[in-house]
Amino acid sequence: MNTEKSLKVGVLGAGTMGTGIAQVASANGHEVVLFDISPGQLSQSENSLIKILNRQVEKNRMSADEVTAMLQRITFSSELANCADCGFIVEAIVEDLDAKKQLFRSVEPLVDDNCILASNTSSLSIASISAALNNPVRFLGVHFFNPAPLMKLVEIIPGISTSDEVSKKTRNLIDSWKKVTVIAKDTPGFIVNRVARPFYGEALRLYEEGIADAVTIDWAMKEIGGFKMGPFDLMDLIGHDVNYKVTESVFKEFYFDPRFKPSFAQKRMVEAGRLGKKSGIGFYDYREGAENPEPVTNRDLGDKIFNRILAMLINEAADAVFMNIASAKEVDLAMVHGVNYPKGLLQWADEIGLSYVLDTMSSLQVEYREDRYRPNPLLKRKVRDGELFHG
Ligand SMILES: NC(=O)c1ccc[n+]([C@@H]2O[C@H](COP(=O)([O-])OP(=O)(O)OC[C@H]3O[C@@H](n4cnc5c(N)ncnc54)[C@H](O)[C@@H]3O)[C@@H](O)[C@H]2O)c1
Repeated sequence: MNTEKSLKVGVLGAGTMGTGIAQVASANGHEVVLFDISPGQLSQSENSLIKILNRQVEKNRMSADEVTAMLQRITFSSELANCADCGFIVEAIVEDLDAKKQLFRSVEPLVDDNCILASNTSSLSIASISAALNNPVRFLGVHFFNPAPLMKLVEIIPGISTSDEVSKKTRNLIDSWKKVTVIAKDTPGFIVNRVARPFYGEALRLYEEGIADAVTIDWAMKEIGGFKMGPFDLMDLIGHDVNYKVTESVFKEFYFDPRFKPSFAQKRMVEAGRLGKKSGIGFYDYREGAENPEPVTNRDLGDKIFNRILAMLINEAADAVFMNIASAKEVDLAMVHGVNYPKGLLQWADEIGLSYVLDTMSSLQVEYREDRYRPNPLLKRKVRDGELFHG
């Protein structure tokens, strides 16, 4: 496969992610076939793209001719056969294993042997989808973040059968789309959706223990930590149904490791239909005229909150390196470019001192006697040997 613009790209599923990925591929000069089983979804996708691109013209970021050419490069189709001459196909349909396997079974006989097949799945294993293929060597995970045109990160996930050549070619292609690529092992949540769990989970734990309310925890993470959004702001934005489902799935997939335990507070939000911004109320009230509480801006309390969540995040990032999910460099790149963290977590650890992080984890473990707070062995080794994560 070449990375030349002559390579035709197939995108299966014209929802949020598929539309965004098609936009990225077309913006980089490729002919794109955007396939969906729902004709209504295809026209919705086309209309939303027209709207987005026209806004680029209004803001003088693109010319009208460029937009016309970009749209002309995309074929919106409900005929899978139109993907037959694609050299790279990425699937972004519903997160359902049977549906994905069924679709790949239909695609594989249509395309050339050299066509690379990829899935944008967030929570299914690449191995499980690859079982549908006769030639799983050419199949891998390519995980974009939402919104795909704006978020720089793409996680590339080779499955156990994927060839090195296919991984390399795919990475070269996505790099040529000016994305930041990282290679991740085929494990639950890959890098970002695994390492970010404590941002939500430990915030919910502090809330459940009554150490602080949602707005104070958000204040601490933004004001002291420099995060763009607090955990409760972000959960309300993502939607508690979506966020809770990811947490539950990661917990289950990690054989119920207490590090990933979901919270009752969030479960109740889902049960009550308080899904966040989209339903008008979550931890915050978004309805017209609603008043929300002010944070308790006590620096000692804020430090306690921030240090505990940061230590848990660093411990999780260390675990991703320890378990060979990715290198320290790639874990840091992933969190900065996939979820806009102000700094790579392991870089942060190097700066504040690994022994400080280890002390925080050890104190939590002594206090709670819960396996959730066990310090990562790699963190312990680094402290023992006086090493840093970088350099
Ligand atoms: N939304 C996100 O933030 C996000 C981020 C990264 C990855 N993902 C993953 O991307 C994939 C798509 O997510 P989304 O949010 O874009 O979903 P979505 O619901 O917006 O879109 C899914 C689309 O798939 C179409 N579809 C369903 N079955 C189909 C089939 N058999 N053949 C063709 N089209 C079919 C639907 O008509 C719909 O248009 C999922 O695997 C999801 O886990 C989502």
